[in-house]
Amino acid sequence: MKIFILSAMLSSAVAAPPPEPARQQALRNLLKHDCGACHGLTLKGGLGPGLRPADLADKSNEFLTATILRGRPGTAMPPWNRFIDKSEAAWLVEILKNPQP
Ligand code: HEC
Repeated sequence: MKIFILSAMLSSAVAAPPPEPARQQALRNLLKHDCGACHGLTLKGGLGPGLRPADLADKSNEFLTATILRGRPGTAMPPWNRFIDKSEAAWLVEILKNPQP
């Protein structure tokens, strides 16, 4: 039962629709102001590493989504799962890898 729920959650995250437009705007603001505080306003890195497409290209979406949700214990990267859910974190990874002009 537990395993079934887990796999249902995993597959729904993959197929999850993008957040509503207002929520997308809120997430973009979060990215700029909160994430930007460490990763740089233009995401080219600061205290945290750069988050531009070339920086992330060789890392899987699953790995990066998990990093955003859980943070990296022992580093300055905090967990964000109290503020954003899994599909929102996956969407953030998507726009980091494929920024829109
Ligand atoms: C307090 C500083 C800080 C804030 C705020 C922060 N990060 Fe980080 N982040 C870090 C650090 C430091 C690392 C590198 C951790 C390590 O050494 O592995 C990191 C790593 C990452 C990585 C993995 C990058 C890679 O190349 O593996 C991603 C993705 C990421 N952060 C996204 C975000 C997002 C999205 C936000 C905002 C919701 C955010 N971070 C906010 C400090 C921060």
